[in-house]
Amino acid sequence: MCGIVGYVGNEQAAPILLDGLERLEYRGYDSAGLAVCGEHGGLTVKKTKGRLQVLREMTHDGADQPGCTGIGHTRWATHGVPNDVNAHPHVSQSGHIAVVHNGIIENYAEIRRELTEKGYHFQSETDTEVVAQLLDYFYQDCNDIFEAVVRMIHTVDGAYALGIVCADCPDRLIAARKDAPLLLGYGKDCNFIASDVTAIIRHTRDITYMEDGEMAVVEGDSIRIYNSQLQPVEKKHYYIDWEIDAAEKGGYDHFMLKEIFEQPVAIRKAIAPRIQGGKVVLRDLKMTPEEIRHIRKIFIIACGSSYHVGMVGKYNLERMLRKSVEVVLASEFRYSDPIVGPEDLVIVISQSGETLDTMAALREAKKRGARILSIVNVVGSSIARESDDVLYTWAGPEIAVATTKAYSTQMAVLNLVGLYFADVMGTMLKSDYDEVVKGLQEIPGKMESILSRVDDIKAIAKECAGHENVFFIGRNVDYALSLEGSLKLKEISYIHSEAYASGELKHGTISLIEDGTLVIALSTYGPLFDKAMSNVVEVQARGACVLALTTDSHRAEMEKAVPMLLTISDIQEMLLPQLGVVPLQLLAYYMALERGCDIDKPRNLAKSVTVE
Ligand code: F6R
Repeated sequence: MCGIVGYVGNEQAAPILLDGLERLEYRGYDSAGLAVCGEHGGLTVKKTKGRLQVLREMTHDGADQPGCTGIGHTRWATHGVPNDVNAHPHVSQSGHIAVVHNGIIENYAEIRRELTEKGYHFQSETDTEVVAQLLDYFYQDCNDIFEAVVRMIHTVDGAYALGIVCADCPDRLIAARKDAPLLLGYGKDCNFIASDVTAIIRHTRDITYMEDGEMAVVEGDSIRIYNSQLQPVEKKHYYIDWEIDAAEKGGYDHFMLKEIFEQPVAIRKAIAPRIQGGKVVLRDLKMTPEEIRHIRKIFIIACGSSYHVGMVGKYNLERMLRKSVEVVLASEFRYSDPIVGPEDLVIVISQSGETLDTMAALREAKKRGARILSIVNVVGSSIARESDDVLYTWAGPEIAVATTKAYSTQMAVLNLVGLYFADVMGTMLKSDYDEVVKGLQEIPGKMESILSRVDDIKAIAKECAGHENVFFIGRNVDYALSLEGSLKLKEISYIHSEAYASGELKHGTISLIEDGTLVIALSTYGPLFDKAMSNVVEVQARGACVLALTTDSHRAEMEKAVPMLLTISDIQEMLLPQLGVVPLQLLAYYMALERGCDIDKPRNLAKSVTVE
């Protein structure tokens, strides 16, 4: 999604903004631009379609834009095609005000019509340009940029994170937020605005998150924040302790590969402090044992891969707690008039903590009285702040658009929640509980062993990369895992891929299996191994070429049946997807590499989906 960065201080703004935008590249974008308040008045605005490198060349790495206050933007098109004109910043007709925006102005057509009647000429097809022209209109009247922003905010409907500069007050940025992420960074003799912390972490680790309805006046030596009633507010500061290296490639060809290899460490970080003396201890959970015992039903709400974690969670939590667990796509939940109330627990899963649909679903559940427990990676993000309880995944920054380590750590934390609740509710045999705890602790080591066999997976990926249609099949947790395996493959390699519960094949899908169709048969779940074998035979009889994923203990049997095989170590059944996902991530990665795809920034995708 769009990325925003802004700087006010004593140094030249443009190079700092370009560097910040580069760090936001992972969010996905199609054009980029900068607006800087010139040293001798006026604004310089440079923007272009395409990669940041084009903007760098256009501005000579920022040197062509002198001035110490500026805003930068990477755009992910929503209204209007990606081109130079639609790129941000958008400048008001008078040329005095420039705006960068993340979100959608819903009533833009109406405002545009009214302003056109008043003599404004629009250059772009974007919703954002109405913000610039509206500000111009109000500014002509009051000659005060803050007042103009207040009036503009009362006129627009929709979602926005806004960065605004005005040539008449060149030492100041104005920021405003509603339903789109924006944070403020406190530097030494300089201050920042940014969509996320990676953009400014080189300069400061001292940040605060803006809340909906807030506005900020950012100058080099101060930041003043106001709530929607225009009262000044004091805010909690967060210290970001991520290593800068964590946001860089560190010798890997792609962030995705680096993040796949970071999984053993990430899982260790997520679970080690939460298991003490063989027991799960969730000190960061405020829910009392009494409240846990009285949960009627558990909902898991998320989007994309986070939803797939929820699918594994359904199998595992129902097994551990003998309680009904419903997994719902956030985009469906919010409009479904959900039957959820004060006696229910809603577990919200989100890496970014900013996904708009997930946020909206959270608010819907909260409005109906449900208790919200979120599993989030980004500390202090909107979803984390609005939840009753938060369990952080502590995976560090995830830069590649396709999630890997966030998925794994979310699943580990969800398993910890299951164990903790089971202990409180008394729903698991001690021997089963001990086995899962022990299994969780073994995951990092077992993942390392899979990663050490990366060359085998690379060779199989080479064989498979020419296929244009792939089917993933599995039962129980293997089915839940197949959803993620299939998504990973399609999003980065652009190969058409579908995931099916194996038992469903005969109900329609099997008609698509023909000579040479690649079927990836996930058969790690021991209790249903024989059934998985029958499905392998069934698709092979229709000509399918099968790649199977199974455990070491079933290797010999599976080897006899299929031409291509991937294996993982045996582990407690509920934890199989924690290991099984690693070869599937690597398979997708190397198949995409083989096809020459832009792995870290797949087409049409954004890291943090902050629009509906
Ligand atoms: C796929 C992927 C997405 C996200 C989804 C939710 O690789 O990363 O499907 O899982 O957009 O994002 P979060 O977890 O940030 O809410």
